[in-house]
Amino acid sequence: MVNGVTVPEVRARKGGRRLVMITAYDTPGARIADAAGVDLILVGDSVANNVLGYDDTLQVTVDDMERHVAAVARAHTRALVVADLPWLSYHSGPASAVTNAGRLVRAGAGGVKLEGGRKRLGVVEALTDAEIPVMGHLGLTPQSVLAMGGFKVQGRGGEAIARLQEDASALADAGVFAIVLEGIPDRVAQSITESVPVPTIGIGAGRECDGQVLVFHDLLGLGHLPVPRFVRQYASLAQDASAAIGRWADDVRDGSFPSDDESYHLPEQAARDPR
Ligand code: KIV
Repeated sequence: MVNGVTVPEVRARKGGRRLVMITAYDTPGARIADAAGVDLILVGDSVANNVLGYDDTLQVTVDDMERHVAAVARAHTRALVVADLPWLSYHSGPASAVTNAGRLVRAGAGGVKLEGGRKRLGVVEALTDAEIPVMGHLGLTPQSVLAMGGFKVQGRGGEAIARLQEDASALADAGVFAIVLEGIPDRVAQSITESVPVPTIGIGAGRECDGQVLVFHDLLGLGHLPVPRFVRQYASLAQDASAAIGRWADDVRDGSFPSDDESYHLPEQAARDPR
């Protein structure tokens, strides 16, 4: 069902009003993000680090993603829901990629995101042929953490920059409706943004992209690890939540919770003492 932001609307924002995308992994998170008026919600495979307690995204399966996409979809957001295709769900070829992406669409995604450039063109074409909108993802692609030797900024040298440019153009030609640029120098992101006909959405890629994306837990201070330099934290919710639970624990221990108002009473007691 299409009753919010659509893929063609996102595509048409190239060079226009900046796109805002944030991750969400469950119904309350999606409701919170949607109430803030974001354009896109990414059910990222970063659910691995932020919700499931893994160190990287390589552990996430299509079953995991399907469950989280369905939870986000139950929020019935105006924002377009995009789902990450997890590692190995599109690496064995176009046919299995279409099957796996189809599961995420049936769970409620309005499009899927995959990592990589020219290597993935066959998959992008098969997905778009199957009418599944695809978002690309270039630069610091977390599913390549082993090959990259860690989470390192990409595209710092001449050849690497040229490869990124070519990958971005090839993805756009293959039919992606937007491209996430992650962990690359701002000038490189700017030049890619100026050269491709689809919106770029940056994370750690400077301010000249057509939009920005951040991880829900990073922006709201819900994580337990220090955040990368490209994150701006707008709240410290983990700290606030621990403090709130601590106050409740104090009230339980000193007997002030629950109060009479927070308790149910027998009818004769209520008649004597109406509250
Ligand atoms: O999974 C994720 O959170 C992402 C964003 C970092 C773009 O892919």
